[in-house]
Amino acid sequence: MNTFNVGLIGMGTVGAGVAKILLEKGSPLLEKLDCVPVLKGIADRNPDVKNKLNLPSDILFTTDAKELLNNPDIQVVVELIGGLHPAMEIITTALEKGKDVVTANKMLLALHGSELFSKARRHGKSISFEASVGGGIPIIAALRDGFIANKIEAIFGIVNGTTNYILTKMTREKVKYSDALAEAQRLGYAEKDPTMDVEGIDSSHKLAILARIGFGVDFDYKNIYHEGISAMDLSDIWYAHELGYTLKLLAIAKKTENNIELRVHPTLLPHDHPLSSVNGVFNAICITGSAVGETMLYGKGAGQMPTASAVVADLVDVALGRAGITFKAMKTFSGHCEYVPIADIQQFKTRYYLRFSVVDKPGVLAKISGILGKYEISIASVIQHKARENGTVPLVMMTHLAEEGNLQKALTEMKQLDVIKDHTKFLRVEE
Ligand code: HSE
Repeated sequence: MNTFNVGLIGMGTVGAGVAKILLEKGSPLLEKLDCVPVLKGIADRNPDVKNKLNLPSDILFTTDAKELLNNPDIQVVVELIGGLHPAMEIITTALEKGKDVVTANKMLLALHGSELFSKARRHGKSISFEASVGGGIPIIAALRDGFIANKIEAIFGIVNGTTNYILTKMTREKVKYSDALAEAQRLGYAEKDPTMDVEGIDSSHKLAILARIGFGVDFDYKNIYHEGISAMDLSDIWYAHELGYTLKLLAIAKKTENNIELRVHPTLLPHDHPLSSVNGVFNAICITGSAVGETMLYGKGAGQMPTASAVVADLVDVALGRAGITFKAMKTFSGHCEYVPIADIQQFKTRYYLRFSVVDKPGVLAKISGILGKYEISIASVIQHKARENGTVPLVMMTHLAEEGNLQKALTEMKQLDVIKDHTKFLRVEE
């Protein structure tokens, strides 16, 4: 049996899961492989972690990551501390010291992926990152290997379990946003500071990684449009539901001839769309390829063992030499992919759900539809609810395809109408 020595840096929830799989007696890896990754050392800033882990005596434990980086017996470093620093320095040093890298660090790859890939190439080493998107779902392997024969046309899906849990709870139990978030925090699905998840930032990091691998291009991460769910109103979920749509936070990547669309925002999907029935903390990603057509991958997008499953898959790829071959051969990892601009949100074309709070008197609909018409926005359906909210009534509309810039102009002009009270809500639709 050949072995490949692993140094694990960052012993949080996922790190403990990776150690559990690697140290398991009768591990599936031993049954399936002639060359296995072996846990050689662990680094974590907290010295108490060692006692909690009950480690076998032959595994080195250190509070200083440098000890593992300088250890010539360690062939692959797993970076699981997250964030930009010192993760960036740890990965860079590992590559300089001739070690392959496995990471789950989506933020670092979204912001500095090309730079790190270039560095790995220069040192003849690889960076594997299956655990950075979709937890246990092998989405990176699918895009990189399984769909290699395809021009990827679109990638879109639910890539954040926390927000999907919150939206599912709001939809099913008619619970308002703040209560659903509190429940997610109580269950450990949402952080104490939930900003990264609920504002769509985590999803935008994952979208950047998927788009780079899927489209084989480079772009400026900061131009990805992202909008979260923290301003979601329960009433919109329910009016849209009545119209046949389910609300999800989607990460959407589409390739057009001259640019790419990359955006994260709350999105309405028809009830019968496969992503509409992805509930709770689950993730699912749809990929449209030129040869394969439409596909969807579904599974647990977070959590200790699903994410550890992805990390260990990467370790096996490194141990078997597959990661090195792929990394060297694929243009995607050259760090010099074609730069493509991200289309401005004003140019996007979708259908829209609109909810106005209006006074209930003759001529209101005519005034609103007049402004929409002026900006070439065609109305597909209208519902006016009887329920009065502070002397106003909710007027809900679905539009046909319209340009976002035109919608924004129309909504700005409508602010002058004295018949519209409150802020007008709008949601984008994908079919
Ligand atoms: N916070 C992420 C989520 C999990 O809720 O999906 C890690 O990527």
